[in-house]
Amino acid sequence: MSNNLLKGKRGIIFGALNDKSIAWKVAVKAVEQGAKITLANTAMALRMGGVNELGEKLGATVIPADATSVEELEAVFTQSIEALGGKIDFVLHSIGMSPNVRKNIPYDDINYANLGKTLDVSATSFHKMMQVAKKMDAINEEGSIVALTHIAAQRTFTGYNDMADAKALLESYGRSFGYVYGRDKKVRVNTISQSPTPTTAGEGISGMTAFLDFAEKMSPLGNASADECADYCIVMFSDFTKKVTMQNLFHDGGFSNMGLTQAIVEDYIEKQ
Ligand SMILES: NC(=O)c1ccc[n+]([C@@H]2O[C@H](COP(=O)([O-])OP(=O)(O)OC[C@H]3O[C@@H](n4cnc5c(N)ncnc54)[C@H](O)[C@@H]3O)[C@@H](O)[C@H]2O)c1
Repeated sequence: MSNNLLKGKRGIIFGALNDKSIAWKVAVKAVEQGAKITLANTAMALRMGGVNELGEKLGATVIPADATSVEELEAVFTQSIEALGGKIDFVLHSIGMSPNVRKNIPYDDINYANLGKTLDVSATSFHKMMQVAKKMDAINEEGSIVALTHIAAQRTFTGYNDMADAKALLESYGRSFGYVYGRDKKVRVNTISQSPTPTTAGEGISGMTAFLDFAEKMSPLGNASADECADYCIVMFSDFTKKVTMQNLFHDGGFSNMGLTQAIVEDYIEKQ
Protein backbone atom coordinates (compact mmCIF):
# COMPACT_ATOMS: atom_id res chain seq x y z
CA MET A 1 0.00 0.00 0.00
CA SER A 2 1.40 3.41 -0.89
CA ASN A 3 0.61 6.76 0.70
CA ASN A 4 3.41 8.38 -1.29
CA LEU A 5 5.10 9.36 1.97
CA LEU A 6 8.45 9.74 0.17
CA LYS A 7 7.19 11.14 -3.14
CA GLY A 8 9.93 13.08 -4.93
CA LYS A 9 12.62 12.13 -2.38
CA ARG A 10 16.02 10.65 -3.17
CA GLY A 11 17.69 8.18 -0.85
CA ILE A 12 20.72 5.97 -0.33
CA ILE A 13 20.25 2.59 1.36
CA PHE A 14 23.40 0.98 2.78
CA GLY A 15 23.31 -2.67 3.89
CA ALA A 16 20.78 -4.69 1.85
CA LEU A 17 22.29 -8.18 1.59
CA ASN A 18 19.36 -10.56 1.00
CA ASP A 19 15.59 -10.54 1.38
CA LYS A 20 15.87 -11.01 5.17
CA SER A 21 17.91 -7.79 5.56
CA ILE A 22 16.18 -4.87 7.21
CA ALA A 23 17.73 -2.60 4.54
CA TRP A 24 16.22 -4.75 1.78
CA LYS A 25 12.73 -4.18 3.21
CA VAL A 26 13.42 -0.45 3.59
CA ALA A 27 14.53 -0.27 -0.06
CA VAL A 28 11.34 -1.96 -1.29
CA LYS A 29 9.08 0.21 0.89
CA ALA A 30 10.92 3.46 0.05
CA VAL A 31 10.30 2.88 -3.67
CA GLU A 32 6.69 1.84 -2.96
CA GLN A 33 6.29 5.17 -1.15
CA GLY A 34 7.47 7.14 -4.18
CA ALA A 35 11.22 7.57 -3.53
CA LYS A 36 14.07 7.05 -5.96
CA ILE A 37 17.01 5.25 -4.36
CA THR A 38 20.49 3.84 -4.84
CA LEU A 39 21.77 0.73 -3.05
CA ALA A 40 25.29 0.41 -1.61
CA ASN A 41 27.10 -2.58 -0.13
CA THR A 42 30.55 -4.18 -0.23
CA ALA A 43 31.68 -5.78 -3.49
CA MET A 44 31.65 -9.15 -1.72
CA ALA A 45 28.08 -8.69 -0.48
CA LEU A 46 27.00 -7.74 -4.00
CA ARG A 47 28.47 -10.99 -5.32
CA MET A 48 26.90 -13.11 -2.55
CA GLY A 49 23.40 -11.69 -2.24
CA GLY A 50 20.66 -10.80 -4.70
CA VAL A 51 21.23 -7.04 -4.51
CA ASN A 52 21.79 -6.61 -8.25
CA GLU A 53 18.41 -8.26 -8.93
CA LEU A 54 16.82 -6.02 -6.30
CA GLY A 55 18.39 -3.00 -8.00
CA GLU A 56 16.92 -4.06 -11.35
CA LYS A 57 13.49 -4.60 -9.82
CA LEU A 58 13.47 -1.21 -8.08
CA GLY A 59 15.21 0.74 -10.85
CA ALA A 60 18.01 1.51 -8.36
CA THR A 61 21.68 1.92 -9.24
CA VAL A 62 23.80 -0.49 -7.19
CA ILE A 63 27.12 0.93 -5.96
CA PRO A 64 29.91 -1.22 -4.50
CA ALA A 65 31.46 0.43 -1.45
CA ASP A 66 33.15 -0.54 1.76
CA ALA A 67 31.62 1.86 4.29
CA THR A 68 34.93 2.10 6.19
CA SER A 69 36.56 3.80 3.17
CA VAL A 70 36.09 7.57 2.97
CA GLU A 71 36.97 7.53 -0.76
CA GLU A 72 34.38 4.86 -1.49
CA LEU A 73 31.75 6.74 0.51
CA GLU A 74 32.53 9.89 -1.50
CA ALA A 75 31.98 7.86 -4.66
CA VAL A 76 28.60 6.61 -3.33
CA PHE A 77 27.37 10.16 -2.74
CA THR A 78 28.73 11.46 -6.07
CA GLN A 79 27.24 8.58 -8.07
CA SER A 80 23.94 8.72 -6.19
CA ILE A 81 23.46 12.44 -6.82
CA GLU A 82 24.20 11.80 -10.50
CA ALA A 83 21.93 8.75 -10.81
CA LEU A 84 19.05 10.31 -8.87
CA GLY A 85 19.31 13.74 -10.46
CA GLY A 86 19.90 15.87 -7.37
CA LYS A 87 20.89 16.10 -3.72
CA ILE A 88 19.90 13.35 -1.28
CA ASP A 89 16.95 13.49 1.15
CA PHE A 90 17.51 10.35 3.23
CA VAL A 91 20.22 7.84 4.10
CA LEU A 92 19.94 4.47 5.86
CA HIS A 93 22.98 3.03 7.66
CA SER A 94 22.13 -0.66 8.13
CA ILE A 95 25.61 -2.08 8.61
CA GLY A 96 27.07 -4.36 11.25
CA MET A 97 29.86 -6.90 11.49
CA SER A 98 32.13 -8.20 14.27
CA PRO A 99 35.02 -10.60 13.55
CA ASN A 100 35.01 -11.48 17.29
CA VAL A 101 31.36 -12.55 17.06
CA ARG A 102 31.98 -14.38 13.79
CA LYS A 103 34.88 -16.33 15.30
CA ASN A 104 33.09 -16.99 18.61
CA ILE A 105 35.88 -15.28 20.57
CA PRO A 106 34.67 -14.64 24.15
CA TYR A 107 34.43 -11.03 25.36
CA ASP A 108 37.13 -11.52 28.01
CA ASP A 109 39.61 -12.88 25.49
CA ILE A 110 38.90 -10.29 22.84
CA ASN A 111 41.21 -9.80 19.89
CA TYR A 112 41.93 -6.06 19.67
CA ALA A 113 42.60 -6.00 15.94
CA ASN A 114 39.16 -7.56 15.53
CA LEU A 115 37.67 -5.01 17.95
CA GLY A 116 39.13 -2.21 15.81
CA LYS A 117 37.42 -3.72 12.76
CA THR A 118 34.10 -4.15 14.63
CA LEU A 119 34.09 -0.50 15.70
CA ASP A 120 35.16 0.79 12.27
CA VAL A 121 32.59 -1.24 10.28
CA SER A 122 29.68 -1.09 12.72
CA ALA A 123 30.05 2.42 14.20
CA THR A 124 32.70 4.73 12.72
CA SER A 125 31.41 4.08 9.19
CA PHE A 126 28.34 6.05 10.37
CA HIS A 127 30.50 9.04 11.33
CA LYS A 128 32.45 8.75 8.05
CA MET A 129 29.21 8.65 6.07
CA MET A 130 27.92 11.82 7.72
CA GLN A 131 31.25 13.65 7.53
CA VAL A 132 31.55 12.86 3.81
CA ALA A 133 27.94 13.90 3.12
CA LYS A 134 28.31 17.16 5.08
CA LYS A 135 31.61 18.14 3.44
CA MET A 136 30.11 17.45 0.01
CA ASP A 137 26.89 19.25 0.99
CA ALA A 138 25.19 16.17 -0.46
CA ILE A 139 22.03 16.20 1.69
CA ASN A 140 19.10 18.63 1.34
CA GLU A 141 17.80 20.72 4.24
CA GLU A 142 15.23 18.67 6.21
CA GLY A 143 17.04 15.53 5.10
CA SER A 144 16.97 12.51 7.40
CA ILE A 145 19.68 10.03 8.35
CA VAL A 146 18.88 6.82 10.24
CA ALA A 147 21.16 4.09 11.60
CA LEU A 148 20.00 0.81 13.10
CA THR A 149 21.06 -0.15 16.60
CA HIS A 150 20.24 -2.47 19.47
CA ILE A 151 19.46 -2.22 23.21
CA ALA A 152 22.74 -4.04 23.98
CA ALA A 153 24.19 -0.49 23.82
CA GLN A 154 22.46 0.29 27.15
CA ARG A 155 22.11 -3.09 28.84
CA THR A 156 24.27 -6.20 28.73
CA PHE A 157 23.10 -9.20 26.74
CA THR A 158 25.09 -12.41 26.81
CA GLY A 159 26.58 -13.27 23.42
CA TYR A 160 26.37 -9.73 22.00
CA ASN A 161 30.11 -9.35 22.61
CA ASP A 162 31.87 -6.26 21.18
CA MET A 163 28.84 -5.39 19.04
CA ALA A 164 27.46 -3.86 22.27
CA ASP A 165 30.40 -1.44 22.37
CA ALA A 166 29.99 -0.68 18.68
CA LYS A 167 26.29 0.13 19.15
CA ALA A 168 27.04 2.43 22.11
CA LEU A 169 29.51 4.32 19.92
CA LEU A 170 27.09 4.38 16.97
CA GLU A 171 24.36 5.94 19.12
CA SER A 172 26.80 8.50 20.46
CA TYR A 173 27.80 9.48 16.90
CA GLY A 174 24.09 9.89 16.17
CA ARG A 175 23.75 12.47 18.95
CA SER A 176 27.06 14.28 18.42
CA PHE A 177 26.81 14.51 14.64
CA GLY A 178 23.09 15.14 14.92
CA TYR A 179 23.91 18.35 16.75
CA VAL A 180 26.37 19.74 14.20
CA TYR A 181 24.39 18.53 11.17
CA GLY A 182 21.18 20.01 12.55
CA ARG A 183 22.85 23.28 13.53
CA ASP A 184 24.67 23.80 10.22
CA LYS A 185 22.48 22.14 7.59
CA LYS A 186 19.10 21.35 9.21
CA VAL A 187 19.65 17.64 8.61
CA ARG A 188 18.24 15.25 11.28
CA VAL A 189 20.05 12.18 12.58
CA ASN A 190 18.46 9.35 14.59
CA THR A 191 19.10 5.75 15.55
CA ILE A 192 16.38 3.10 15.66
CA SER A 193 16.87 0.42 18.31
CA GLN A 194 15.31 -2.69 16.82
CA SER A 195 14.10 -5.96 18.42
CA PRO A 196 16.20 -9.08 17.76
CA THR A 197 15.43 -10.03 14.16
CA PRO A 198 16.23 -13.24 12.25
CA THR A 199 18.59 -11.86 9.57
CA THR A 200 22.09 -12.91 8.50
CA ALA A 201 23.71 -10.49 11.01
CA GLY A 202 21.17 -11.36 13.73
CA GLU A 203 21.67 -15.09 13.37
CA GLY A 204 25.43 -14.59 13.86
CA ILE A 205 24.85 -13.66 17.52
CA SER A 206 25.24 -16.71 19.79
CA GLY A 207 22.03 -17.72 21.59
CA MET A 208 19.89 -15.80 19.08
CA THR A 209 17.06 -18.38 19.02
CA ALA A 210 16.69 -18.19 22.82
CA PHE A 211 16.90 -14.40 22.75
CA LEU A 212 14.19 -14.14 20.08
CA ASP A 213 11.88 -16.25 22.27
CA PHE A 214 12.76 -14.36 25.46
CA ALA A 215 12.29 -10.93 23.84
CA GLU A 216 8.98 -12.03 22.32
CA LYS A 217 7.72 -12.97 25.80
CA MET A 218 9.16 -9.82 27.40
CA SER A 219 7.53 -7.45 24.91
CA PRO A 220 3.85 -6.58 25.41
CA LEU A 221 3.50 -6.09 21.64
CA GLY A 222 5.87 -8.95 20.72
CA ASN A 223 9.09 -8.58 18.73
CA ALA A 224 9.10 -6.03 15.93
CA SER A 225 9.72 -7.69 12.56
CA ALA A 226 12.13 -6.49 9.86
CA ASP A 227 9.11 -5.37 7.85
CA GLU A 228 7.79 -3.28 10.74
CA CYS A 229 11.25 -1.81 11.28
CA ALA A 230 11.27 -0.77 7.63
CA ASP A 231 7.90 0.98 8.11
CA TYR A 232 9.37 2.96 11.01
CA CYS A 233 12.39 3.94 8.89
CA ILE A 234 10.02 5.23 6.17
CA VAL A 235 8.21 7.42 8.71
CA MET A 236 11.56 8.75 9.92
CA PHE A 237 12.49 9.66 6.31
CA SER A 238 9.11 11.31 5.72
CA ASP A 239 8.01 14.90 6.36
CA PHE A 240 6.01 13.72 9.39
CA THR A 241 9.12 13.65 11.61
CA LYS A 242 10.86 16.89 10.58
CA LYS A 243 11.76 17.98 14.10
CA VAL A 244 12.88 14.60 15.47
CA THR A 245 16.65 14.49 15.78
CA MET A 246 19.49 13.19 17.99
CA GLN A 247 17.18 10.45 19.34
CA ASN A 248 17.65 6.78 19.99
CA LEU A 249 14.18 5.48 19.14
CA PHE A 250 13.17 2.10 20.53
CA HIS A 251 11.28 -0.08 18.07
CA ASP A 252 10.95 -3.19 20.17
CA GLY A 253 7.32 -3.89 21.14
CA GLY A 254 7.92 -2.35 24.59
CA PHE A 255 10.86 -4.61 25.58
CA SER A 256 13.09 -1.71 26.69
CA ASN A 257 10.68 -0.59 29.43
CA MET A 258 9.69 -4.02 30.76
CA GLY A 259 11.06 -5.62 33.92
CA LEU A 260 9.11 -8.90 34.03
CA THR A 261 6.07 -10.11 32.12
CA GLN A 262 3.46 -12.73 33.03
CA ALA A 263 4.57 -14.77 30.00
CA ILE A 264 8.08 -15.11 31.47
CA VAL A 265 6.70 -15.97 34.93
CA GLU A 266 4.56 -18.74 33.43
CA ASP A 267 7.48 -20.00 31.36
CA TYR A 268 9.66 -20.13 34.47
CA ILE A 269 7.03 -21.92 36.60
CA GLU A 270 6.42 -24.48 33.81
CA LYS A 271 10.11 -25.33 33.71
CA GLN A 272 10.46 -25.81 37.49
N1 LIG B 1 19.10 -8.59 13.23
C1 LIG B 1 18.99 -8.11 14.46
O1 LIG B 1 18.67 -8.81 15.44
C2 LIG B 1 19.24 -6.63 14.67
C3 LIG B 1 18.70 -6.01 15.82
C4 LIG B 1 18.97 -4.66 16.03
C5 LIG B 1 19.76 -3.97 15.11
N2 LIG B 1 20.26 -4.61 14.00
C6 LIG B 1 21.12 -3.87 13.09
O2 LIG B 1 20.49 -3.75 11.85
C7 LIG B 1 21.49 -3.51 10.86
C8 LIG B 1 21.25 -4.39 9.66
O3 LIG B 1 21.46 -5.73 9.97
P1 LIG B 1 20.51 -6.92 9.50
O4 LIG B 1 20.01 -7.55 10.75
O5 LIG B 1 19.53 -6.46 8.48
O6 LIG B 1 21.55 -7.97 8.88
P2 LIG B 1 22.25 -8.10 7.44
O7 LIG B 1 23.31 -9.13 7.64
O8 LIG B 1 21.23 -8.37 6.42
O9 LIG B 1 22.90 -6.66 7.19
C9 LIG B 1 24.20 -6.29 7.60
C10 LIG B 1 24.84 -5.58 6.43
O10 LIG B 1 26.09 -4.98 6.76
C11 LIG B 1 26.86 -5.00 5.55
N3 LIG B 1 28.27 -4.73 5.79
C12 LIG B 1 29.16 -5.46 6.54
N4 LIG B 1 30.40 -4.91 6.46
C13 LIG B 1 30.28 -3.80 5.66
C14 LIG B 1 31.20 -2.82 5.21
N5 LIG B 1 32.49 -2.84 5.57
N6 LIG B 1 30.75 -1.84 4.39
C15 LIG B 1 29.45 -1.79 4.01
N7 LIG B 1 28.53 -2.70 4.41
C16 LIG B 1 28.94 -3.69 5.23
C17 LIG B 1 26.62 -6.44 5.07
O11 LIG B 1 27.07 -6.65 3.75
C18 LIG B 1 25.12 -6.54 5.25
O12 LIG B 1 24.45 -6.09 4.09
C19 LIG B 1 22.85 -3.73 11.55
O13 LIG B 1 23.36 -2.47 11.98
C20 LIG B 1 22.43 -4.55 12.75
O14 LIG B 1 23.36 -4.48 13.82
C21 LIG B 1 19.99 -5.92 13.76
